[in-house]
Amino acid sequence: AEMNRELREKLFRLKKERNAIILAHYYQRDEIQEVADFRGDSFLLAQKAASTDAETIVFCGVHFMGESAKILAPDKTVLIPDERAGCPMADMVNVDGLRKLKAQHPNAKVVTYINSSAEIKAETDICCTSSNAVKVINSVDADEIIWVPDKNLGHYVQQHTDKKLIIWEGYCNTHDMLTVKDVVEMKAKYPNAEFVVHPECRPEVVAMGDFVGSTTAIIDYCKKSSAKEFIVGTEDGTGYQLRKDSPDKDFHFATKFLVCPNMKVNNLKKLVKCLETMQPQIYVPPAVADKARTSLERMLQVQ
Ligand code: 13P
Ligand code: SF4
Repeated sequence: AEMNRELREKLFRLKKERNAIILAHYYQRDEIQEVADFRGDSFLLAQKAASTDAETIVFCGVHFMGESAKILAPDKTVLIPDERAGCPMADMVNVDGLRKLKAQHPNAKVVTYINSSAEIKAETDICCTSSNAVKVINSVDADEIIWVPDKNLGHYVQQHTDKKLIIWEGYCNTHDMLTVKDVVEMKAKYPNAEFVVHPECRPEVVAMGDFVGSTTAIIDYCKKSSAKEFIVGTEDGTGYQLRKDSPDKDFHFATKFLVCPNMKVNNLKKLVKCLETMQPQIYVPPAVADKARTSLERMLQVQ
């Protein structure tokens, strides 16, 4: 605790010196969420990165989030506490594969989940996050959509649109781990609890949800719901904000495996160090960034 206090003091001093803003995804460790200027889901943090006046953005999340921030704010320095924080789902789609699919479906538009590399975004018509996926798809001027890389979110979106989705076979290792059996067992144990679930989970698990939504949407729902108890089907870091917003409610994570090891690679010590050394910085080749920016800006414009 004493060490954390010293680290925090150092952090606040450095933050001023560097004119920095700290953005933290809800899946980050508590010790990071506690010191962040903004906590949020992928969409809210991308919006913050695009609109901040700060000179330095410290993105506490995984690599593609830092890349998106750099693409949206190319003149800013974007730091990430540990560049090994990747997203296995983002790595499941490659440019060659996507180009082949585009050649096979010349009339389709490409909608890409923000959990993807800058190179994939550069091949994309419009990006989306889990909070706006349905809205984005329905805003696209085409009947056929190439959807990369999350098959589970793709399946969910397909149920809420008349467009035809051609779905890539990627998935999130963490959310895909949750099974129907896990949820059935939890419901038996907590019969009064509502089940709230992220659309990155398997379709049959999502179908069991009393509420389906992005991390921010889940947090907002639990705050407003009259239920007192919840079974949570998303990454365990979300517990920080859920319990902060609703200290009188109980949150049971659906399994102990709902932990994203990539998100947890960042910690307070590395956060302080990256502001001290101004390393590691996110770099996106300008030619790639310029192409990718259009797809992200289009997303930010969808109401
Ligand atoms: P959201 O931030 O849109 O809830 O997505 C969750 C996620 O897996 C981020 O990596
Ligand atoms: Fe990627 Fe899943 Fe981790 Fe999100 S929770 S960063 S989608 S592996």
